[in-house]
Amino acid sequence: MIFLLQHFSINLLSVISPAAFNEVSQFMGTNFLVQGLLQPVLMFGIIFHFIMAIVLEIQNRKARPVKYFSTNNTGGTKLSKNMIYTGVAIMLFMLLHLYDFWVHEMIVKYGQGNMTGLNERGEFRYHEELVAKFQNLVRVVIYIAAFFFLGLHTNHGFQSSFQSVGANHPKYTPLIKKIGFFYSVVIPAGFAFIALYHFLIH
Ligand code: HEM
Repeated sequence: MIFLLQHFSINLLSVISPAAFNEVSQFMGTNFLVQGLLQPVLMFGIIFHFIMAIVLEIQNRKARPVKYFSTNNTGGTKLSKNMIYTGVAIMLFMLLHLYDFWVHEMIVKYGQGNMTGLNERGEFRYHEELVAKFQNLVRVVIYIAAFFFLGLHTNHGFQSSFQSVGANHPKYTPLIKKIGFFYSVVIPAGFAFIALYHFLIH
């Protein structure tokens, strides 16, 4: 969740100030703590989350090989039952997204040994590379669809993770719901805005 917030904030800079976006991208992309510790921890966390979700889903299906005839009274909302589907959609998006941006970064920085962040004209390359990616309508549509699934996924995931640890309290639940709304509506809509902005403006 912290990653999503910081990733959103940095990407929002690409709309507000290309120069600031370039500076922050260069810092994040070359800082030892970010590259050597935070990024590996994040990648491990993402892979671990995917694997655990798939293992759980398989166990659930084994425990109940015949599907419920009616799921009306089995507890849980429609969203909670669809977590695996929204999760798989996000996983597919992540494969495309990492290929689009992260793999390219790894090749330039560690494959070609270019840590300067500059293009052949001697200017920062991050903003123009990001803009170039969002000139393709198909990619923009896939990204926006993925952000919609991200919203559905975080909507349920956020509230249920608090419930799992017993934090279901009349005083705190409204606040948790507000933060949940921020993550499930504001952040995904903001990501969609960034993608659309670069497609329409440039
Ligand atoms: C308009 C929306 C988005 C834009 C413009 C965007 C942009 C980027 C860029 C430029 C990078 C490369 C950073 C680098 O390594 O130097 C990146 C990496 C990454 N993005 Fe996104 N991103 C968006 C949405 C998302 C979403 C919604 C997620 C998660 C659900 C996500 C997850 C990641 C991850 C895990 C990485 C690799 C780790 C990292 O380098 O920080 N991104 N993204």
